[in-house]
Amino acid sequence: EKDGFPHYMAKEIHEQGAVLRSTLKGRLTEQGVDLSEELDWSGEFVRSLKQVHLVACGTSYYAALVAERVLEQWTDLDVRVDIASEYRYRQVRVTPQTLAVFVSQSGETADTLAAQRKVRSLGARCLAVTNVRGATLAREVHDRLLLKAGPEIGVAATKTFMGQMATLYLLALKLGWDRGTLNPAEAERLAAALIQLPYQVERTLEREEQVRRVAEKYSKYDNFLYLGRGISFPVALEGALKLKEISYVHAEAYAAGEMKHGPIALLEPDVPVMTVMPRDSLYEKSLSNLQEAKARRSPLVAVATDGDDLVTRHVDDVLRIPWSDEVFSPFLSVIPLQQFAYHVARFRGREIDQPRNLAKSVTVE
Ligand code: F6R
Repeated sequence: EKDGFPHYMAKEIHEQGAVLRSTLKGRLTEQGVDLSEELDWSGEFVRSLKQVHLVACGTSYYAALVAERVLEQWTDLDVRVDIASEYRYRQVRVTPQTLAVFVSQSGETADTLAAQRKVRSLGARCLAVTNVRGATLAREVHDRLLLKAGPEIGVAATKTFMGQMATLYLLALKLGWDRGTLNPAEAERLAAALIQLPYQVERTLEREEQVRRVAEKYSKYDNFLYLGRGISFPVALEGALKLKEISYVHAEAYAAGEMKHGPIALLEPDVPVMTVMPRDSLYEKSLSNLQEAKARRSPLVAVATDGDDLVTRHVDDVLRIPWSDEVFSPFLSVIPLQQFAYHVARFRGREIDQPRNLAKSVTVE
């Protein structure tokens, strides 16, 4: 059932092109996004919305952080993201014009369920983004969107992160389209780019050998700093979480611009810095953060775009991803980080599919 892969995690990483394809299937065409089978929202309701709250835990929270940036670009909605265990105890303000989106692979995470119950009783419209059709969360909300990632056995979430992002991008595209905040030509261009993504994901997956070699070189370090800016910041968070979870190596992720506000004190030759820096509008800024790390003699690895020759002059190792539109780069940049965590864990002889102290779904607070 592992299809010849040594671990479920490896199999699930490899399935990500197919996951994207099935998540998009029937919901997206060159003409646009159609979620009418799942969401019976009137145009009037969509136009009445004022806020979107995204609420989740762990990897699902990082998918929500990516979605926050996309919703800000494609819609005029006020977007807020919170960790479910915080959100549920805060004095949040919601109205019937608030769309509260609960992102949970399992649909059984106790804090996410409690957060949903709370704001539902306060009048928010509640939507679940989940991988499990019959899950408690899916049964309790007003609306649901399924990821269609198939069962995920590895404790570390990989393909469901991909499916969550794709589902949330579809939602953002729909909201931008229906509210008229995306012009039709731009919306069509984005839809066409989304349709191409599964192929780009597959091309990125094929590059595993470059990642394995770099993972071998860095597998003995005990502390890492992960950096990213803009849409790459949540990717850095997710990459660091993967490394912690399955290899038990300490990895801290920071928004690159925050480095000089504290974490730079940690840098020294045995603390490598992994920077997620696709060639995008914030690239130059990431490059200058890299130089600060280089001055502290930290070993440097970058996740960078094909054809970016500048980066090679500044870092020790590069994990290459294909070029994509800035807004879609998380689908590609997360892949080498998943593979890096996987291979470091292998070199360290860890239990990859069943890491210590972790459960696949956290049903207690
Ligand atoms: C990370 C991981 C966890 C889950 C978190 C939320 O690899 O698996 O951080 O993402 O426990 O779980 P769900 O999405 O089921 O609510």
